[in-house]
Amino acid sequence: MLEALQMAPPDSILGLSEAFKADANPSKINLSVGVYKDKDGRTPILGCVKEAERRLLESQTSKSYLAITGIPEYGRQVRQLVFGADHPLAVGERAATLQTPGGTGACRVAGDFLSQKLGVRTIWCSKPTWANHMGIFKAAGLAIQSYAYFDEDAFALDFDAMLESLKGIPSGDAVCLHACCHNPSGVDPTIDQWGLVAEVLAERKVLPVMDFAYQGFGEGLTEDAGGVAEVCSKVDEALICTSFSKNFGLYSERTGAMTLVAGSEDAARTALSHAKISVRTNYSNPPEHGGAIVTAVLSDERLRDEWEAELAQMRDRINGMRRLFADTMKAKNAPRDFSFITRQRGMFSFSGLTAVQVDELRNKHSIYIVGDGRINVAGMTEANMDRLCDAILAVL
Ligand code: LMR
Repeated sequence: MLEALQMAPPDSILGLSEAFKADANPSKINLSVGVYKDKDGRTPILGCVKEAERRLLESQTSKSYLAITGIPEYGRQVRQLVFGADHPLAVGERAATLQTPGGTGACRVAGDFLSQKLGVRTIWCSKPTWANHMGIFKAAGLAIQSYAYFDEDAFALDFDAMLESLKGIPSGDAVCLHACCHNPSGVDPTIDQWGLVAEVLAERKVLPVMDFAYQGFGEGLTEDAGGVAEVCSKVDEALICTSFSKNFGLYSERTGAMTLVAGSEDAARTALSHAKISVRTNYSNPPEHGGAIVTAVLSDERLRDEWEAELAQMRDRINGMRRLFADTMKAKNAPRDFSFITRQRGMFSFSGLTAVQVDELRNKHSIYIVGDGRINVAGMTEANMDRLCDAILAVL
């Protein structure tokens, strides 16, 4: 049977990392996969993480299985981070959290739960969305539809079109929303716009699945949670997919969470019992280490302060690179205005580069960006900026 298989295409994002590694050009630049790099182009382990790991190494006494839902204190900390420490959903029992292997694991658990337990047939994703959303939800047995999101001429959110699209979604379907730092475009709704989105979802009885992979990379931890707060203030039910890959730099530890919000404590308990089956039949129970690190950091005042400072540093560096890129392009008399990049948030920017230009950047300049024109701004440094801008100008 295996003999009959044809080669599958490489993953549109992770496949580029493999190609980048194989590229012998010493000046190659990787702006593809969403991984943070510091000013020297390294992906560091955060100081707070190192300290938490040191403590764990000393205090851990067993590697026995975790519960299907993971570390209980982790779940509590996740809900406090997502909803705010004193929010009823953080302190009450209407929300329940499952520790998952990364944000991808959270999305897959959400997809399986929607399709197997709630009988949802279709999930609506923004156009464009993270390439893997489609693959994950399809693998979970859901049909994918898209709603309008990005205005390609203005490099901004096309909010009127988005709202119109959402109004057309049939009741009983699910909609995937990027809670902040939209991947790939970097453009988010304002708080007022989130309020209007939430009203439509509530009226249409559409279930929101909020992918929250970049909390803290936009404006700040609390500010970035504004969309989730708006939605959860107007709808009774939602699924929130958290990732700590980026904001804790825990990429390889696969650390995430799926939080379900129900209309009552009873409904939450019942829903959790079903979501646990989705986990058990998928990966049984979650890996411990990343969740233990996050729990240790978030429950220790000093480590938490250190984390928030390190996160702010990452956010500020990315925003600095956005400004430097726009200024450098302007100084080089680019035929286009690139100032839109300074108005986008998070790791990514939708550059407007075509597939042909993306290929040329890779083949002629060893610069790797995703085929749809998504640039990982976090891969820019002062040292590679000049070469990057020259190469983009050459392909424009
Ligand atoms: C990305 O979008 O580059 C990241 O979320 C990494 C991934 O898994 O695709």
